[in-house]
Amino acid sequence: MAHTPFTELLQQDLASLETNLRDLLAPHLSKKDHLSLLNLACGRGDETGVLAKLLSEKSKSSHLQGLDIRAAEIDQANCRWKDELQKTKEQNTSVDFITHRGDRLLDLTEIGTPDIAFLRHQNYWNDKPVWTQIFDQALERLNDDGLLVITSYFDKEHELATEALTNLGAIQVGSIINPNSRTLSDAPGKSVDKHLAIFKKTSA
Ligand SMILES: C[S@@+](CC[C@H](N)C(=O)[O-])C[C@H]1O[C@@H](n2cnc3c(N)ncnc32)[C@H](O)[C@@H]1O
Repeated sequence: MAHTPFTELLQQDLASLETNLRDLLAPHLSKKDHLSLLNLACGRGDETGVLAKLLSEKSKSSHLQGLDIRAAEIDQANCRWKDELQKTKEQNTSVDFITHRGDRLLDLTEIGTPDIAFLRHQNYWNDKPVWTQIFDQALERLNDDGLLVITSYFDKEHELATEALTNLGAIQVGSIINPNSRTLSDAPGKSVDKHLAIFKKTSA
């Protein structure tokens, strides 16, 4: 990727995301030989390197799957990350990205039962019924000790998504308001990874 002032901003966003996710996961994610993560509505999956690094700190090997409805972004993600992870220290992480609807997650046998479901900049406000389905099917897919993590651009959207997840039976076990969130000018109140929250599938 060419180095521009914009890529520098993206790198700063990712550095904050890494710190916040590490803090959020630490009390809840136990070390395992193998960990799997499903990155839902991942777009280009810019955060893949961060996720791979966090998984490698907690496991000997890991698998990261990304899914989005948009084929062009999924193609970009496959092209970039299959190569890039091989060149970094995260060589024990395999990745693949699939074009598919998150609200039809239960149709996909190749997803298995991930340890973590991740949704960066969830978009609940945009289509509540669809995102309720995405949340519901992500919870259903997770293994019984599974964790679901969301980040949000907007205060109200985060509040509504948290309420929707709680109504679906998820239990919120942590949250962070990102002190380094970068304000975006394309919509009032929009800010990169402004809120993060972590949920357990069950109280067990
Ligand atoms: C706000 S963007 C976030 C993208 C990425 N996670 C990020 O942080 O840059 C929301 C994403 O949801 C995806 N999306 C919308 N509806 C979807 C659906 N039904 N299933 C899967 N992805 C969907 C869009 O294509 C878009 O990439």
